[in-house]
Amino acid sequence: MTLLIKNGEIITADSRYHADVLCEDGTITRIDDDIDPPADAEVIDADGKYVFPGFIDPHTHIHLPFMGTFAKDDYTTGTKAALCGGTTTLIDFVIPGKDEAPKEALETWREQSEGNACSDYTYHMAVTRFDDEVEAQLRDIVDDGLTSFKVFLAYKGAFGIDDEELYRTLELAEELDVVVAAHCENAEMVSALQNKLYDAGKTGPEWHEPSRPVEVEAEGTRHICSMAEVTGAEIYIVHLSCADALEEAVEAKMRGVNVHVETLIQHLLLDESYAQHEDFVEAAKFVMSPPLRAGDNFEVLWAGFENGLIDTLGSDHAPFDTEQKKMGRGDFRKIPNGIPSLEDRVRMFYTHGVATGRVDLHRFVEVASTRAAQVFGLFPRKGTIQPGADADIVVFDPDYEGTIRADTHNMNVDYNPFEGMTVRGRCDAVTVRGTVQVRDGEFVGEEGIGKLLKR
Ligand code: URP
Ligand code: ZN
Ligand code: ZN
Repeated sequence: MTLLIKNGEIITADSRYHADVLCEDGTITRIDDDIDPPADAEVIDADGKYVFPGFIDPHTHIHLPFMGTFAKDDYTTGTKAALCGGTTTLIDFVIPGKDEAPKEALETWREQSEGNACSDYTYHMAVTRFDDEVEAQLRDIVDDGLTSFKVFLAYKGAFGIDDEELYRTLELAEELDVVVAAHCENAEMVSALQNKLYDAGKTGPEWHEPSRPVEVEAEGTRHICSMAEVTGAEIYIVHLSCADALEEAVEAKMRGVNVHVETLIQHLLLDESYAQHEDFVEAAKFVMSPPLRAGDNFEVLWAGFENGLIDTLGSDHAPFDTEQKKMGRGDFRKIPNGIPSLEDRVRMFYTHGVATGRVDLHRFVEVASTRAAQVFGLFPRKGTIQPGADADIVVFDPDYEGTIRADTHNMNVDYNPFEGMTVRGRCDAVTVRGTVQVRDGEFVGEEGIGKLLKR
């Protein structure tokens, strides 16, 4: 299959130029001025458009058994929505139950994804227990190409592990040269605060944030950084939401800790007031962990993108619908945590970061694509436009203006946290290894062509 993208302006993390891109058999084979279309080629005219490398979401939960229910997307709906938003590769999480073996959980996630995903994907392997059996299986899993672990400092009694397990996980990661992604909230403090608030009759969604304040996240961040300092492991702080936690990560960086930082589009745009709505369901839609914060954190996080202190932009897509959110009526501790955001991650960042002049185009590509590929062993196959790379390309119309609506989005969930907000730009055409999966912003492609990427 041959595809020629003509007349566009190619933007990567470090270059910007007009050229044509020829893609053959899934790979970019030539980038040049005015390439003549081969006889069998499909031609996409990208005149007036940006040509970006496919975006990479380093943090999604498509299959997610959590808090007594399951997130709503499956690999077909989730990856279609991702593609419509320009994401051509996502990194999901295999999360074993406490008594489950890692390989058993991996098999479950593979069954869910294989033959269903429409974009490429890979997995972070969560470590929810550490013993000799788990260690042996993790070694095999890394050998087989899944080269990042995930640990939860939060979620006591569910996915969380204790300090000894954490230490051993980091030691193993250092030995095997794999990155450890970490959810950084002190579980003991969360649990104590949750129960104290609940027992005092503070039961609504507005108490979710006070039960996991910024100090709790900063402490979790400091904790994992200290462990990484001692073990020498490379770590990746997921969904960092506030200035206090960023300070801890930056201090650790200055001490030489090998730490990367991710924040989420929602933590750049939505503040805590969304979860304080007087209507329970409206508020519960915005319950996630770490929680939405006071708006004065926004500037610090945006600056983190500008000055390089934050590496990547994720979505932490974890869609629970309004019926599921009602599970926590009368007890905020039972509201399924998470929001749907993988479809809107890139365009909301473009709208509020690039179109406002806050973040330049190269940095945009870097944080929404290239850096994740570099940190997680996918570069330069993914994350850039160059001969030899996979032909994952986004033809982006910067002049488009639209409005986000749940009734037109592609995620399998009945609300959108950005409902009614204006967006600038649209992913007109999106390709996965040379197959056109999106045209005019709509999924038109082949289901099930997504591959599990070994790293
Ligand atoms: O609230 C969230 N973030 N839900 C998804 C699970 C996680 O902690 O990432
Ligand atoms: Zn998390
Ligand atoms: Zn997550």
